[in-house]
Amino acid sequence: MTPEQSQQLIQLLQAGEEISPEWARILFPPEKREYELVYHGKEREEDIIANTLAVPLQKVRTFGRNGVEWHNRLIFGDNLQVMKSLLELKKAGKLVNADGTPGVRLVYIDPPFATKQDFQGSQDQKAYQDKIAGAQFVEFMRRRLVLLRELLADNGCIYFHLDVKKIHYMKIVLDEIFGESRFINEIIWKRTSAHSDSTTFANVHDALLLYSKSGAFIFNPQFVPYTEEYIAERYKHIETTGRRKGQRFSDDNLIGTGLRGGGYPYEWKGIFKTWRCPIETMQRYEQEDKLYYTKNGVARIKRYVDDLLGLPPSDMWSDIFPVNSQAEERMDYPTQKSESLLQRIIATSSNNGDIVLDAFAGSGTTLAVAEKLNRRWIGIDCGKLAIYTIQKRMLNLKAKIGNKGAALKPKAFSLYNAGLYDFSKLNELPWESWRFFALELFGCRDEPHSIGGIRFDGTLKGGSVMVFNHREREGVRVDEQTLHSIHEAAGSRVGLRVFIAAPAMSFDFQQDYIDVGDVRYYALRIPYSIIHELHQREFMALKQPADEMAVNDTVEAVGFDFIKRPTLDYKIGTRQKDLFAEGYIRIESFYSDAVVRETLRKKENRETLSMVMLDYCYGGADADSETGVFDLDEVFYAHDLANADWELSFPAELLGQKMMAIFVDIYGNEARELIPAEKFGLEPNLKEKKAVYAKRKKSKKSEETL
Ligand SMILES: C[S@@+](CC[C@H](N)C(=O)[O-])C[C@H]1O[C@@H](n2cnc3c(N)ncnc32)[C@H](O)[C@@H]1O
Repeated sequence: MTPEQSQQLIQLLQAGEEISPEWARILFPPEKREYELVYHGKEREEDIIANTLAVPLQKVRTFGRNGVEWHNRLIFGDNLQVMKSLLELKKAGKLVNADGTPGVRLVYIDPPFATKQDFQGSQDQKAYQDKIAGAQFVEFMRRRLVLLRELLADNGCIYFHLDVKKIHYMKIVLDEIFGESRFINEIIWKRTSAHSDSTTFANVHDALLLYSKSGAFIFNPQFVPYTEEYIAERYKHIETTGRRKGQRFSDDNLIGTGLRGGGYPYEWKGIFKTWRCPIETMQRYEQEDKLYYTKNGVARIKRYVDDLLGLPPSDMWSDIFPVNSQAEERMDYPTQKSESLLQRIIATSSNNGDIVLDAFAGSGTTLAVAEKLNRRWIGIDCGKLAIYTIQKRMLNLKAKIGNKGAALKPKAFSLYNAGLYDFSKLNELPWESWRFFALELFGCRDEPHSIGGIRFDGTLKGGSVMVFNHREREGVRVDEQTLHSIHEAAGSRVGLRVFIAAPAMSFDFQQDYIDVGDVRYYALRIPYSIIHELHQREFMALKQPADEMAVNDTVEAVGFDFIKRPTLDYKIGTRQKDLFAEGYIRIESFYSDAVVRETLRKKENRETLSMVMLDYCYGGADADSETGVFDLDEVFYAHDLANADWELSFPAELLGQKMMAIFVDIYGNEARELIPAEKFGLEPNLKEKKAVYAKRKKSKKSEETL
């Protein structure tokens, strides 16, 4: 700041005048960058990493076995918190690529595009709110990109898939996070054709921004077959004899006049020239029938189309099509991308055995293609629908891109919950694992130590942490007396803060902390805790969509919770509709038991229902199985159910012996109901129904496209 400027500022302050935003740059000049994206609520990178909670991964089940340590991972939870946990794995040397480099080799993300903005009020207010929503989206993404950069291997790279609305902001954010020099490409993907009724230039493309973490990155060249027009135009000759009869070729110059090395002067077939190759090579070409003679008798070399690998793709991709309604790969998941798009990305930027991460996994396209290309994978999504769709996809995989060809058994993969835990399962853990889980949950260091004869388990923010053994001392609760006893023994040697972690029901007081002498004793309650105090954030529960549009919304969760089965009541039956029997389920009541801090208002009946997912033939042929794999057939969103008087219906012929219905609340809790066909008043149908279902679905798709 110049002396004049400081004088001017002092005068403004003394006069009590408003300080205009331009002063910000003078007072706090950007140190390293010449320009940056400024918006309200932009956090420092260091704070993003430090303030993000790591949520431990709780294994739900493993599909398949391979006898090796690595299992591919499908994780249900908010990706920001999950990535912080994955970062711990990277630090512990548990995320390693085929060549031994730590971290993930390739990240592809296709996040929600922040397009749906639902505001009421005047135009001005709307424009203002749109900007806020825009800045929130940018920061939502920026926080995740910072963690993704940390997770990447040093020679890894990231593809960020976006539409045109936010790409200019995100390019700047990526430049800030990775460095402008790490920008590799902006790929334009032409995803659709123009509609003839457009009133503006039709928007037909998405953009993918490609960045590397360091200068070194993997780039395996790919080739695109030449188009028929290109071949017809450039490869005009057709071989008439020999083993290459019928093949197209072009003719290329063999004259070397002006070549830097001087070329080879000799006579060939009566024509003296300076040729590109020595006479011996010319003779070999002749023997191999590779020479073409112009009408003047000058030799040229034949170039066959069949010998060419194809054209290396440019940054304009118009040869990859979106998933169409008839496609074998179609999962009926809104915003599903095509396998061929991911094939190009994964094949180019990773090698066999490398780790590929998709933190917005959706229907699991990245994971399916990674599996087919023999890569290892990690997929994260915060939607139950996405998780069940991916589970189904991985268990019905076909070897070829586009989901064609022979069945492909995926390598072992495990499903994890992160941030929404099954308490009964945790309770079954041996004490040492529970203790470790509790420490991890609050981001504490596992550092057992004793002070004044009191055993502590770890440390947090410079204070000691005790994981209260509620099992050893059944019926004993943490009350003020407990704190006084600790204080008497340990005194002020513990420093200023002590943290006690225990299940919420083990505490006998409500406050977040209690002061004893000059020591503050904090209660780390499981599931709820003082995350506001520790992380400057409020608890936010995961949100599940209640209509199809919302599947592509950004979702944020902070903190963790335990699964609480919603309570519900429903009626089922069968009725005749036209010539067919129709099964129905009518939801009479649905309440969530989840105690969500954000609102104290009691939710109305069915207000917390997000969706109902059905597997018409649970257990498949093995219909007695109670522990089978849920194979998602159809999803009904609460929004549509509300319009249908809370009733869903389906052709009765789809029912196998048993149906599995999963009622999901907006926080991601499930009520699973195994319903035998008899309950619908139907004879159990012993046939394998999947085939019937697949057939119906196909014919439905054809109707849609007509
Ligand atoms: C555009 S879709 C991805 C589609 C995917 N590329 C495919 O081919 O199916 C975006 C996904 O991001 C998920 N999502 C949104 N916010 C998230 C968050 N904070 N953590 C994890 N997933 C999130 C949504 O549930 C949705 O499935």
